[in-house]
Amino acid sequence: RTVYVNGEYLPENEATVSIFDRGFLMADGVYEVTSVLDGKLVDFDGHARRLSRSLNELEMGNPLSREELLEVHRELVRLNGIEEGLIYLQVTRGSDGDRDFAFPDPVTTTPTIVLFTQNKPGLADNPAAREGARIISIEDIRWHRRDIKTVQLLYPSMGKMMAKKADCDDAWMVEDGFVTEGTSNNAYIVKGNRIITRALSNDILHGITRTAVLRFAREVQMEIEERNFTIEEAQDADEAFTTSASAFVMPVVEIDGVTLGEGVPGPVARRLREIYIEEMR
Ligand code: PDD
Repeated sequence: RTVYVNGEYLPENEATVSIFDRGFLMADGVYEVTSVLDGKLVDFDGHARRLSRSLNELEMGNPLSREELLEVHRELVRLNGIEEGLIYLQVTRGSDGDRDFAFPDPVTTTPTIVLFTQNKPGLADNPAAREGARIISIEDIRWHRRDIKTVQLLYPSMGKMMAKKADCDDAWMVEDGFVTEGTSNNAYIVKGNRIITRALSNDILHGITRTAVLRFAREVQMEIEERNFTIEEAQDADEAFTTSASAFVMPVVEIDGVTLGEGVPGPVARRLREIYIEEMR
């Protein structure tokens, strides 16, 4: 696999970053995951805009312009022959060669930028989406700037492991009694023709897939209610699903051991998944 590091395309085993990089020492960095369908980037502009916002919130400059970033994404897709898959991008603050809590001088410190591809045939025709996901709920103990897509993913990783140990697929996080989001996706429930999902705030990541899916849902006359919901309300819903760049629309069929409806992916989630993939191809 060819990867990109700080202006260079290299074989993955020749790519290196400093041990003093604050991304490594302090999780001081941000990332994006963009999907590829039929060799084409899905919603590149949305991801590029959110990257700029995340960097801005952390007082980091953007090491590449939108055009340069697009060029690197396209070149990696080409070099690695990706038809279906993901592109991971990470920008960390870099370092001035030592460890210190205060940010180093931004004038003399250059951020580290890394991109690599993940080949995922079957991203669109995903057997897991035909089964639907079984999820558990866990307490949301993350920090309170979840709108910034930082690389601090230890708690979401632990949540995923808790789900695995419970023989489930994923976890939804709950704060003050209400669902925030999934470990790596936004969360939704469906009642009749109505889709309910938490409103945007600093409590959740502003999903790029969320924006597109809600737009497509409105276009086919589904109703959308942006408000908090509880696990009990979700267990009582007709359907549930999640959205993310890596799984598009993923139906949820079980929450904390309670089966939703017939225990198979519901019509709204299935339809939104179809529409999303068709529109993004
Ligand atoms: N995760 N919420 C969280 C906590 C996420 O990590 C993600 C994405 C989302 C969905 O955002 P989007 O639709 O822009 O992918 C919501 C990516 C896919 C990841 O960490 O791999």
